[in-house]
Amino acid sequence: MSERNIIAIHDVGSRGLAMPVPAPAERVGAVQHDRLGRVLHDLRISVTDRCNFRCSYCMPKEVFDKNHRFLPQQQLLTFEEITRVARLFVELGVRKIRLTGGEPLLRRHIEDLVAQLAALRTPEGEGLDLTLTTNGSLLARKALALRQAGLRRVTVSLDAMDDAIFRRMNDVDFPVAAVLDGIEAAREAGLGPIKVNMVVKRGSNDHEILPMVRHFRERYSGAVVLRFIEYMDVGATNGWRMDEVLPSDEVRRRIDAEYPLVPLEAAQPGETAQRWAFADGRGEVGFISSVTQAFCGDCNRIRLSTEGQLFTCLFAERGHDLRSLLREAQPDGQRCSDGQLAAAIGRLWAGRSDRYSELRAQLASTAGRGTRRVEMSYIGG
Ligand code: GTP
Ligand code: 5AD
Ligand code: SF4
Ligand code: SF4
Repeated sequence: MSERNIIAIHDVGSRGLAMPVPAPAERVGAVQHDRLGRVLHDLRISVTDRCNFRCSYCMPKEVFDKNHRFLPQQQLLTFEEITRVARLFVELGVRKIRLTGGEPLLRRHIEDLVAQLAALRTPEGEGLDLTLTTNGSLLARKALALRQAGLRRVTVSLDAMDDAIFRRMNDVDFPVAAVLDGIEAAREAGLGPIKVNMVVKRGSNDHEILPMVRHFRERYSGAVVLRFIEYMDVGATNGWRMDEVLPSDEVRRRIDAEYPLVPLEAAQPGETAQRWAFADGRGEVGFISSVTQAFCGDCNRIRLSTEGQLFTCLFAERGHDLRSLLREAQPDGQRCSDGQLAAAIGRLWAGRSDRYSELRAQLASTAGRGTRRVEMSYIGG
């Protein structure tokens, strides 16, 4: 891996694209369509760029070592800033908010942010689909407080049932039993439906697919939905190779051979996962296949980074600097009003044409290696 391929976090931050400030009178409509007709629905908020795991596909140890500079505290959006932005997004049509990281449970007092977001209401007076993606390491301790703060559900990342393989995958020797305890605590706290996401890397953990299916079917039946994610070429540090991707079709065939599956309809437009039910009625599994079957066509997601950059695609090279609009006085000496911020965000979405996964093959032959991309631990999965 060459040094120039690695984008330091502070570089990404300082190079966010300026967001034009709309005139105070500019208004935006409630439904936002981008240039490909996709409607904004899902806001993913990264609350920290730190993680206590070092999964090789996300934060490889060699890169995220003791010399790595994580963001200093004053660069992070405060909970009040995040909630203000989230409220504007809800006015613009967002109905689902996911907190991510890094590991979001490492952000101090995260339950206070959850409480602020849980109080938001849609124009129809409904609460949001408020959820969080976690590696599960702190979940046993925090599940109840999160639930009490108003979190609705959680998604737990888990790449193996076998303790030795799991310790190797997280690369910090963290035991699988503690994550399983976290999942149990989440269920007891009522944070369901719980999803468990497994990134499948051929040759590393693909022999764990069936043990994972067996465990979650037998223990939880339909209460935990296991989903298999194709290993993606996200970021620039994980040394991604196509031959380490196990296509979802193959994962599905392996499961189907032991536990017959039948296809299910998508529950919501723009869903990442293709859903399949166990023919015997004991729950379902999902397949997230962004490498072999891109799902950009109805991608309704936008991402807010820890330091307040907006990313219109997981694979974007640059964010858009919302934090400056939040914090800095504009040329007229005033801070941006809510209306101006909403108009700036609305314009950004209206101009969006990203569909990286669909273009991947084409880009690979033209841009080649060395494409600068933001890391998933910074922008949030
Ligand atoms: P649910 O509402 O629970 O279904 O969540 P979700 O599937 O929208 O989000 P989740 O964080 O569970 O996504 C699972 C994984 O899908 C992520 O960790 C990524 O690997 C992948 N993923 C999510 N969103 C995108 C996306 O917009 N583009 C691509 N290429 N991959 C994505
Ligand atoms: N490929 C696919 N998913 C990834 N994630 C992180 N890096 C990758 C990658 N290279 C996702 C996983 C993990 C979440 C935190 O981010 O879903 O569970
Ligand atoms: Fe941490 Fe999740 Fe990335 Fe693993 S995949 S290093 S748990 S943020
Ligand atoms: Fe959306 Fe970009 Fe992912 Fe496509 S690659 S689904 S446009 S985030």
